[in-house]
Amino acid sequence: MTTKEIIKKHGNKKENLLQILHDIQSQNPKNYITEEDINTLSREMIISVSEIKGTASFYTMFSFTPRGKYIIRVCESPPCHILGAQTIFGAIKSKLDIKVGETTDDGLFTLEGTSCLGICGVAPAMMINDEAYGNLNEEKIDKILDKIQEKEKI
Ligand code: FES
Repeated sequence: MTTKEIIKKHGNKKENLLQILHDIQSQNPKNYITEEDINTLSREMIISVSEIKGTASFYTMFSFTPRGKYIIRVCESPPCHILGAQTIFGAIKSKLDIKVGETTDDGLFTLEGTSCLGICGVAPAMMINDEAYGNLNEEKIDKILDKIQEKEKI
């Protein structure tokens, strides 16, 4: 779907901007919003480029730079922090050989930190794209990432 088609689907009212940005980003294989997308949005929705960028930058889920196919967002808020978020970061970093904010060489994974995901009952927690994972430990991380890597080999 083109950016114009996404706008058409939701309607070009300002209140639809977040949903439109979300759809634009998720259909980009590199998980980001391009400069061209922003210019199209600005023209079609009659919103200034700076306002669109300002709105999108407020939400950590939006990116203006290319990222991996899978965005791993590890919760850093206190309940997850106390229950081992740093161990989770450590396990992901060593398995994928990337730091926070980086993307693996094969373009598959980007690692990010995030605030509360709303699933504190199963802390420590993370999301990979739209899927939530809780009660994490090193072994579980290993299995989850192996499964995705296997799927991508097919
Ligand atoms: S604090 Fe981590 S999910 Fe809420």
